[in-house]
Amino acid sequence: MGILVAPSILSADFANLAADIKRAEDGKADWLHVDVMDGHFVPNLTIGAPVVRSLRNVTQLPLDCHLMVSDPDRFLEDFAQAGATYLTVHTEACVHLQRTLSQIRKLGMKAGVALNPSTPEQVLEYVLQDLDLVLVMSVNPGFGGQAFIPAVVPKISAIRKMLDEAGNKQALISVDGGINTETGSVVTAAGANVLVAGKSVYGATDVTAAIRHLHQCGPKNVCKAG
Ligand code: DX5
Ligand code: ZN
Repeated sequence: MGILVAPSILSADFANLAADIKRAEDGKADWLHVDVMDGHFVPNLTIGAPVVRSLRNVTQLPLDCHLMVSDPDRFLEDFAQAGATYLTVHTEACVHLQRTLSQIRKLGMKAGVALNPSTPEQVLEYVLQDLDLVLVMSVNPGFGGQAFIPAVVPKISAIRKMLDEAGNKQALISVDGGINTETGSVVTAAGANVLVAGKSVYGATDVTAAIRHLHQCGPKNVCKAG
C-alpha cells in the first residue's frame, strides 16, 4: 500500500468547507482529517459531531476524526451516528483506554489512539490488539501551522515494531503536525503510512500538486521540493 494523504480541514476555509473538501477530493486525497478540540484538553475550540454529520453528506472520503477532548467517552456515540470512519482518542485523555477503544469498534468505527509528543510508546503495550490506527503527534496539539518536532521520529519506528511483533500488521500509523514533503519523507522512512497535513495542503496555491507531492513521500520515492 502506498502512502495515504489526509488533508486536515483545520486549515481549510470553514465558511466554504464543501468547496475545500472538493478541492481535496479532486486532488486525490485518501482521507479527510477532522480536528475536534474542546478548549480544555487543548487550548483551542473547533467543531463537533454536527459538522461531521454535514461533511458525511458531501463526501465519500473516509472521515478521520481526531478527538482532542477530555473524557472522549462522552462523544463516541455521537461521532458514530454522525458517520465518522476512524475515531481517534488521546491516550492522555482516557482513564480506561482499552474500554474506550473496544467501544469505538463496537460502534462500528475504526479505533485510533493519539500520542502527544512527550508520551512514550509504551502506553500502547496492552492495547496493541484493540487498535486500527496510531496517530503520532509531531506537534503539541491545538493549532495548525506549528513546527515539526523531530524527536518523535524514533517513536514511529518503535510503534511499527510493537504492532508487527503483536501480529497487528494491518494497523496504520499516521503522523500529524508540521508535515510537508521534507518531514513527510522522514516519517514515512520511519514507518508512517498516513500523512496528515493542514498548512502544507490548504496553504498551497495548488492543492492537487501539494497532495501529489505528499503521496510521493513514500520511502521508495524521492520527494519533490515544495
Ligand atoms: C493539530 C492538529 C493537526 C493540524 C495539523 O493539533 O491535530 O491535525 O491540523 O496542521 P499542520 O499540518 O498545519 O501542522
Ligand atoms: Zn489532527
